[in-house]
Amino acid sequence: MIAILGAGKMGEALLSGVLRAGRRPAQLAVTVRRAERGALLHERYGVAVLSNAEAAKTADTLVIAVKPQDMATLLEELGPHIPPGRLVISMAAGIPTSFIESRLPGGVPVVRVMSNTPVHVDEAMSVVSAGSHADEAHLKLTEELLTPVGKVLRIPESLQDGATALSGSGPAYFYYLVEAMVDAGILLGMPRAAALEMVVQSAVGAAVMLRDSGEHPVLLREAVTSPGGTTIAAIRELERHGVRAAVLEAIEAARNRGRELAEG
Ligand SMILES: NC(=O)c1ccc[n+]([C@@H]2O[C@H](COP(=O)([O-])OP(=O)(O)OC[C@H]3O[C@@H](n4cnc5c(N)ncnc54)[C@H](OP(=O)(O)O)[C@@H]3O)[C@@H](O)[C@H]2O)c1
Repeated sequence: MIAILGAGKMGEALLSGVLRAGRRPAQLAVTVRRAERGALLHERYGVAVLSNAEAAKTADTLVIAVKPQDMATLLEELGPHIPPGRLVISMAAGIPTSFIESRLPGGVPVVRVMSNTPVHVDEAMSVVSAGSHADEAHLKLTEELLTPVGKVLRIPESLQDGATALSGSGPAYFYYLVEAMVDAGILLGMPRAAALEMVVQSAVGAAVMLRDSGEHPVLLREAVTSPGGTTIAAIRELERHGVRAAVLEAIEAARNRGRELAEG
């Protein structure tokens, strides 16, 4: 059985994804802090609602989906009840596997995951890292769990803060760019709804081309950039305003902020 501990937004998205992928509700359970949240999840998905202690005793895989600040309390509740051989998967941003391992019985395998909001549409980017007691089999189990809701990539844990900045926050940067492009449409006199439709469809088209063509982004961009044409006029302005340098610094700042938060 797989138990999702702290089934909020992220936990529910994962729950719904694995159910759509064919797991039966009887193979899944959730834990919650508020009874009404549990009742809603039970009604919506037909899964059992357990206490954290019950989940620790009965589930083979425990997926922790609470906010980072609730992690220590949750681990205190779990710690005394986890038998050997359980896999613990943590989705909490910025919490190292060593923090979790030190609060659980010795030898419990821990895998750390950073996912992102497109988990809601089965297009998440999830990066996974093994803690010191997790082996190939534990990583495989984690990948099997996450594949129904998107792509999964293994990375060393030292890159997790960088991944949080790059793909964890990544969707926000694209939304920001879309917002700015829609403003440009308004500037050029387009109705807002039409501008939004044009930009969103361009983003979807570009994303599918990037994913499915196998071409490098530079080649895809060059294909839209004819000599002396309109695209290069826009690119010159992007370069003049240092957009590439801004992106590098912005994502580095996100990584640094993630480290600060992790240090409390
Ligand atoms: N949302 C994202 O886009 C995103 C992206 C990447 C990673 N993450 C990570 O995913 C985790 C969850 O984020 P979220 O946005 O899904 O947060 P969320 O909606 O607040 O979900 C967390 C849930 O855990 C419950 N909870 C807290 N302490 C508990 C306990 N001791 N026992 C049982 N349940 C408990 C909370 O209950 P209440 O409802 O009573 O507060 C809440 O429903 C975070 O660690 C975050 O870093 C989130």
